[in-house]
Amino acid sequence: MLNMGGMFSYSDMESLGELCNAISSCKKCDLYFSRKNAVCGFGNVKPKLLIVGEAPGSKEDDMGKPFVGRSGKLLDKALEYAGILKHEIYISNSVRCRPKIGRAPKISEIRKCSGYLSSEISLLKPRIIVPMGNSAIKSVGLILGINLGRISEVQGSILYADGKYLAPQFHPAAILRDPKKLERFKDNFLKVSGFMEDLHVKAPEGLFIDYKVRRI
Ligand code: URA
Repeated sequence: MLNMGGMFSYSDMESLGELCNAISSCKKCDLYFSRKNAVCGFGNVKPKLLIVGEAPGSKEDDMGKPFVGRSGKLLDKALEYAGILKHEIYISNSVRCRPKIGRAPKISEIRKCSGYLSSEISLLKPRIIVPMGNSAIKSVGLILGINLGRISEVQGSILYADGKYLAPQFHPAAILRDPKKLERFKDNFLKVSGFMEDLHVKAPEGLFIDYKVRRI
């Protein structure tokens, strides 16, 4: 279930499987009372990119898989537009159980759930992380011990922290609410796609200049 074609060691896959078992039976916060399914991360276990969303919606809660609803369809289209192949990436969330009536997760819920994302980051070792939306930058910020600010201020930039590149992005649900942001959303992924390619061929100084990477 976790591998979609990447090279991986058996122990990493086993650990991701164990992590998913822990997520599936998690009772760290009250969200477990109302969930149908806790949602584990999904994708390539040697990902070029780790995308982090907010929390499962009703479709994800039903199916136990991330980004299979309306936000997921929009995300798929934007990735396709940018030439980012779905089988090269891993998709996860800040919180693994659906908050009721589509509310945003509380900071206490993000905090309690952040250990799972932290473990995924350690196991998957992505060089680029795309936190989508405010819950995702809060979660990634907690893990790295940095305040990344608000998504409206940092979306579209590339930041460098703790040996990782962060490319904060709007959450697709924000684009569904405000379609004026769609071009920006697609362009941000296009930039990430170029960066992904250049990461393998350019020296860090060149990358930092070309993409105005900000060290934080
Ligand atoms: N929105 C998210 O943030 N995550 C999902 O998995 C689905 C919708």
